[in-house]
Amino acid sequence: MVLDTDTISQQCLPKHVAIIMDGNGRWAQARNRPRVFGHKKGVDAVRQSVQFCTKLGIESLTLFAFSSENWRRPEDEVNTLMELFLFVLSKEVKKLHKNNVKLTIIGDLSRFSDSLRDKVDSAHELTANNTGLQLNVAANYGGRWDVANAAKQLAEQVAEGTLRAEDINEERLAEKMCMADQAQPDLLIRTGGDVRISNFLLWQIAYAELYFTDTLWPDFDEAVFAEAIACYVARERRFGCTGEQIKQLLAQT
Ligand code: IPE
Ligand code: IPE
Ligand code: MG
Repeated sequence: MVLDTDTISQQCLPKHVAIIMDGNGRWAQARNRPRVFGHKKGVDAVRQSVQFCTKLGIESLTLFAFSSENWRRPEDEVNTLMELFLFVLSKEVKKLHKNNVKLTIIGDLSRFSDSLRDKVDSAHELTANNTGLQLNVAANYGGRWDVANAAKQLAEQVAEGTLRAEDINEERLAEKMCMADQAQPDLLIRTGGDVRISNFLLWQIAYAELYFTDTLWPDFDEAVFAEAIACYVARERRFGCTGEQIKQLLAQT
């Protein structure tokens, strides 16, 4: 499927794309290099994806960088990933700012080092008023953590007496989830060939279109991204309605 990026209407494009960036380790191993070599190479693919989203005028891009389960990996790999994260934050944030990108790190940051948390705070502060691409990077993120964290905030309000338990509903909970201020992901891409969610966004992808590719993350480039978007554009999203209802709705717009 081909995507003509010059003529495609903004209306057809996803507002929010989320990506499970998987396959760095296998990419490196296939080249007889240590797994961390793949993580480092993966940063180039991140840069290309950010550029492509900016070019297309996509509102939000959410990247899964480190899951709440990834702490289970060998200590060496976890340490290198943290160093890489710190390095990328130091090196890339100014460039992102120059390109009007608003950067938000989502996840439980309490387990990170003070220096990493400081870098995250200053990145948030520097880019807070940017109006271009909203880039969310999920670090120590788990979809279940996100739901539990939202529930905890509502429970605190109930305990304070500012919310009644019987008033808790989907909307109240949604307001407390990560990225509540943004459109819900329309398209979720997973690279690396595995067909699972791995505790990434659970609540937010309720109606996302899912796209799985065998391409390993370091090989993910504009062409693969465009293919995923072309596939998304060709789908009919029905949100529980019938196909006929959707066609009627589209005819009216
Ligand atoms: C994804 O690549 C990056 C992280 C999870 C940090 P992997 O490191 O999971 O690569 P594979 O899946 O082992 O190839
Ligand atoms: C998901 O990849 C997490 C990230 C891409 C950050 P994993 O490689 O950790 O997923 P599993 O363990 O294969 O499910
Ligand atoms: Mg993996």
